[in-house]
Amino acid sequence: MALHRLASITIGVPNVEETSAYYAEFGLSRDGTTFSTSDAGEQLRIVENPCRRLIEMSIGVDDPDDLDRANKRLTRLGTTVQRDPVSVSAVEVHSGARVEMKVLPRISQDPAVMEPYNGPGRPDRQNARAPGILREAPIRPCKLGHVVIGTPDAEASQRFFVDGVGFKVSDQVRGAAAFMRCSTDHHNLLLQPSPVAFLHHTSWQVEDVDEVGRGAMRMLEGHPERHIWGLGRHFIGSNFFWYLRDPAGNFSEYYSDMDTITDDQLWTPGTWEPSLRALYAWGPDVPPSMLEPEDLADLMAATHQG
Ligand SMILES: [Fe+2]
Repeated sequence: MALHRLASITIGVPNVEETSAYYAEFGLSRDGTTFSTSDAGEQLRIVENPCRRLIEMSIGVDDPDDLDRANKRLTRLGTTVQRDPVSVSAVEVHSGARVEMKVLPRISQDPAVMEPYNGPGRPDRQNARAPGILREAPIRPCKLGHVVIGTPDAEASQRFFVDGVGFKVSDQVRGAAAFMRCSTDHHNLLLQPSPVAFLHHTSWQVEDVDEVGRGAMRMLEGHPERHIWGLGRHFIGSNFFWYLRDPAGNFSEYYSDMDTITDDQLWTPGTWEPSLRALYAWGPDVPPSMLEPEDLADLMAATHQG
């Protein structure tokens, strides 16, 4: 049948304990250095690595035929593939990320309650305060949505993920980024050209825009230095976003209301020229660190030592 979900990721950082404490505070359920979301189980593992980067991503497929097809496609690209009865894996050499595909059940999420929103001539919530202002519970991300990595050869990396693994391109920005999906989410992976491989950000789904705001504000209490960019709404993908920085320098995003593509025939992939417009519909100015990591020199030094 097909690839159907981004199941989990392993990220490498030099400061495992400090970074783990951050993701527990971010709202993921912690068990040592493994973290779970409310709807999709274990989705993040943090391991020690001299520089921050994506070590591995795991992708769910429907059946062993999908594994056979992926094996064939990757082999045709000249990639070394490991195949066992339940999985196929290969390393994307430019980003250094290992990609594992395995047969997994599809994710099933209980529908979130649609809370009433008032609009002009549409007073759907009458004689009551908005539920979003009354919430007190800690933020619990529902699932891992996407991961964005820097790669020194974005074209070759994209060939690996699209022609090899089987991702589909939802939209692209010419010469800058391809938004790729392995599920019905608009994107689960984005590649950013960069002199060195690094992890740009991971993104975690929350219920709605109030949870994006609540989550970020709680993370910023006593830690204003964590703020990167938000609140805003992306143009490509449509999602509300707020980006924060973890202690290793990776960004973590709360998002809600991303486009979903359930029928490939009904979605027309777009190509945009590089512009801020392609990046966001509204929000604060884009900070330079979104476009180029502040620790680029350190990343390059660590990579070349490694
Ligand atoms: Fe994102």
